[in-house]
This record gives sequence, C-alpha cells and structure tokens, in this order.
Amino acid sequence: MSILKIARMGHPVLRGRAEAIDDPADPEIVRLVADMVETMMDANGRGLAANQVYVQKQVVVYIPPRDNEEGDEEDDVEVVVLINPRIEALSEETEDGWEGCLSLPELCGIVPRITRVRLRAIAADGSAIDQELSGYHARVVQHECDHLNGILYPMRMRDLSSLMFDSEVSHLASEPATETDDGQS
Ligand code: NI
Repeated sequence: MSILKIARMGHPVLRGRAEAIDDPADPEIVRLVADMVETMMDANGRGLAANQVYVQKQVVVYIPPRDNEEGDEEDDVEVVVLINPRIEALSEETEDGWEGCLSLPELCGIVPRITRVRLRAIAADGSAIDQELSGYHARVVQHECDHLNGILYPMRMRDLSSLMFDSEVSHLASEPATETDDGQS
C-alpha cells in the first residue's frame, strides 16, 4: 500500500467526472481502495474520493458516524468503500452543517445538504449496498459523491461568508449551523 498525493482545489482532475467501474475485483481497483484508505487515514480525513488522488474512477472511502459512541475501541475504525455510488434524494428538506475537505486544506464552510437520501453502491467485496441515510451520514456521502461529479463543497454553499480557515472558527460565538463536524473529506 502507499500514501497517495491529494489534489488541491484548482487542479482540473477535481472538476472531471469519474468513470464507473466494471469489475470491483480488478486488482488495480483493490489496490486503489487500499491506497485510498491509507491516504485518508494518514491525512486525518473522514472521506476521500478517487479523483482527489488523480484517478477518475467512481470510488469513495469514508468513515461513517458511530451508532454507539460508548464502544470506544480506538484501533477499530470502520471504513466504508463505495464503488459506483448513486444517491437519490428522499426529502426536499436541507440542513446546514460545517464541512471541510482534504482538497481545501485548513478551510471549512457551512453547506446545505439534503437531510435524507437513498444510497446505492457496490461494496468492496462486490455486494450491493442499498441504504437510507440521514444526518451526518447523508452529508458525508453527498460530499464524496459530489467529488465524483466534479463538485467541491464551496460550489454548494449559499453564503461564502462562512468559508473560513479552521483556525478562525473559534471567533464564531453562535452561528446558525446545526452541526459542527469539521472532518476533512
Ligand atoms: Ni472532499
């Protein structure tokens, strides 16, 4: 496995559309997934899309929210792999929340996301994923799937005045954001 270079905002690879994968068991894809997980962990990220590592393929890895915060086994970080993910909105309602991105290091902003989505994808083992997601889990999946379509989170922001450096967020006493998760994805 190897740690890959992460593309930063402005590089055209981040604006391209990723291609669907025919064979998730292809050794090249298996290696890509392993490298993406290692790269995300090394960068302290919560999610990573393949075009962020200069590969225009529909692959996403992310760390889902824990159902039970009590199970605090530090070494046991679950990573979800999505191949050819598709998202369908299950609600017209959106919710504002903070987002960060490994392609925009040290920045964060308030992004509206659909509160409930249906996610369909292929898992790393080739099995089908079909889930209804809400809250942070729906948010991270929308952020990552946007990458595969060439969209970065500032392109979803309604108000660019909340685009700021992580180090300056402490100046905000009370903001309208309902979630504060500045995980970089
Ligand atoms: Ni991102």
